[in-house]
Formats: sequence, structure tokens, C-alpha cells
Amino acid sequence: MPESYQGRRRKAKGGDFRMDPEWRTLDFATITDVESELMTERPTLQDVYEARRRIAPYVVRTPLHRYLSLDELLEAEVYVKHENHQRLGAFKVRGGVNLLSQMSDEDKSRGVISASTGNHGQSIAYAGSLFGAKAIIAVPEGANPGKVDAIRGLGAQVLFHGHAYEDSRKHAERLGKKEGYRYIDAANEPMLIAGVATYSLEIVEELPDVDVIIVPVGGGSGACGACIVSKAVNPSIQVIGVQAEKAPAAYRSWKEGRIVEAPMETSAEGLATRMGYELAQDILGQLLDDFVLVSEDGMDQAVVLHLEKTHNLMEHAGAASLAAAVKIKERLRGKKVVLVASGGNISLTHLRDVLDQTPT
Ligand SMILES: Cc1ncc(COP(=O)(O)O)c(C=O)c1O
Repeated sequence: MPESYQGRRRKAKGGDFRMDPEWRTLDFATITDVESELMTERPTLQDVYEARRRIAPYVVRTPLHRYLSLDELLEAEVYVKHENHQRLGAFKVRGGVNLLSQMSDEDKSRGVISASTGNHGQSIAYAGSLFGAKAIIAVPEGANPGKVDAIRGLGAQVLFHGHAYEDSRKHAERLGKKEGYRYIDAANEPMLIAGVATYSLEIVEELPDVDVIIVPVGGGSGACGACIVSKAVNPSIQVIGVQAEKAPAAYRSWKEGRIVEAPMETSAEGLATRMGYELAQDILGQLLDDFVLVSEDGMDQAVVLHLEKTHNLMEHAGAASLAAAVKIKERLRGKKVVLVASGGNISLTHLRDVLDQTPT
């Protein structure tokens, strides 16, 4: 594995790396030679524009709606980026289509393998069917049955393996090596990041004076995309990541400036990672403005708030941006805020549980 960006930066600075605020707000013009080495792996704004052209026939431009009911709740100007209305119900499809559209015929004929808690798997399955690659998706036991059915329905083979996403991920990587399939990592893939970044392009085109974009984080591809686009277009846009208190690995990795493992017990499938991922953390370490954690209760309430105030069905990861906004309301007062509603594929069982706990 290549030495990490932060490791190289530590050497370049000849000292210990700290997540100092000054570093987080450095712009592209200040990047040194050592740092620019990794830029070749990182998607650029140009990559995002190219991704948009490629994926346009297969995805939709999702609505960015303002809700006065959320304005009132948060005392801010609040918009929701509706990736829950994206094809397959989540933003991930943008990444899979971009990656597979550029894959060599040789890789496609070998077949692809990846691991997922559901939405990324649907994206790879769909893209595999579009571009003629056999797809295998490893999922944790107990994965959302609706998502598993959808992966199968899109023509991919599903392998259940392990209790957590990382178990399935290791299995997929091993099997890829053994059988010669092209392994697709859900976080460490520049083409996935460039693809998912296209929703952020839509945000800044429609709302160039947005102050804050709040993005749910699992591996971090969506948040990387939001950072790459918004910092290139207008560095004063603040990007805030959200993860679950019960799955804080990406958050802790970002805070500590190194890859960290952490317990994973959240019910929000999309946020359920047990470690930080190299490429995503390299990008977030430099460009993400802040990161907050939300509780399981906070996400339950946000699922219900979406039903009540926006009349939209969200999965917990998709509602996490609203949960975070409620938590940091004081900081958002009077600002233009976009909540990324990253997906709506909640299982009926999970929805029933949430509604059963809600006082009527
Ligand atoms: C609905 C939803 N939101 C957020 C995420 C987190 O995305 P990322 O891994 O790009 O951080 C996922 C990941 O699968 C997801 O499905």
C-alpha cells in the first residue's frame, strides 16, 4: 500500500502531523511537491465534470428543494439534496456507473467483486449490467433484505460474509485476488469519488452561495466529492461530515489524522464502517471543515422529521444530515444550508421500529 498522504506530509514537514485548522483550510495553490504526488490519485474538478458527462444517460439530476418547515425548525435557509430520488434510491449509483464505464474490457471480462452494506452493491450490480461485467457483491449477514434483493434483481451474485462491512470487504478482496476478479473498494477508488461528486456539482450550480453542506459519511466518498467540488468552486463553502456515534471510525480517523479502527454498532447501514479509509481520509484530512457524530435516537427522530416536514422516506444514513443539523442548530442559524439526503432505502422492519417508538 502506498505510504499515506499524511505520512508523507509528516516527513515533508519534518515533524509530527497535527490536524491544525490552518492545514485544513489550505487551498490547492499551496500544495507542495510531496503533497502533489498524491493528487494524481485524487479526483479533480475536471474528473467530476468528465464523470458527469459519462453518467448522464444513466442517472438523474436530483432535486434540491427548500422546505419552509425545515427553515422554521432550524432557523436557517434549509435545502435538501434529494439523492433518495436518485435511481436505485441512493447517490452511490453515480460512482459505480462512472467507474465501470471506464473499465478495460479485460477487467470487465474477468468480472468485478466488491463489498457493501447495500447501496454501493446496487450501484456496482447496476453498472455491471450496463457495461457487461459479471458482478459479485459480498454483504454482511443481516444486511437490509430489500437492498440484497435489489442487488440480485440487478443481476449480481450476492455472497453473505461476516457480521460487519469490513468482514465482507476483506472477503471480497481475498476472493478477487484468488479468482482474478477486479476488486472494487467502496472508498479507495478515485473514479467512485469523482462519480458521486457529481451531486455536489449540481448543488453548487443551483445554489452557488450555499454556506454549509452537511454530508453523511461511511467510507467518505460522498464527503470527499462535496469537498473537492465546493473547495474548487468557492472555498468559503463549509463542508461538514456526519457519522454515527455508534460507528465513529471515519470521524476519529479524521480527528486524529491517522487511520483508526472503532467499534461499529449503528443501525444506519450506510454509515456502518469500522475503520477509516486511506484515500478518503487523505482528502477529508485536508478539505473537510468539520465532522459531527449523531446518536441513534437523533437519526430515528430525523427519519420521522423527514416524513413529517418534507414527506420523504429516508434511510437512517440519509436522515443523518438532518440529525446533525438539529444537533448543531446554533451554528447554522441564519445560514444557507444544504442537507444531503443520501438515500431512502430503509427496510420496512426498521421503519416500523422507528414509527412504533414515536409518540402519536
Ligand atoms: C444512504 C447512504 N448514505 C451515506 C453513505 C456513506 O457514503 P460514503 O461511504 O461515501 O461515505 C452510504 C454508503 O453506503 C449510503 O448508502
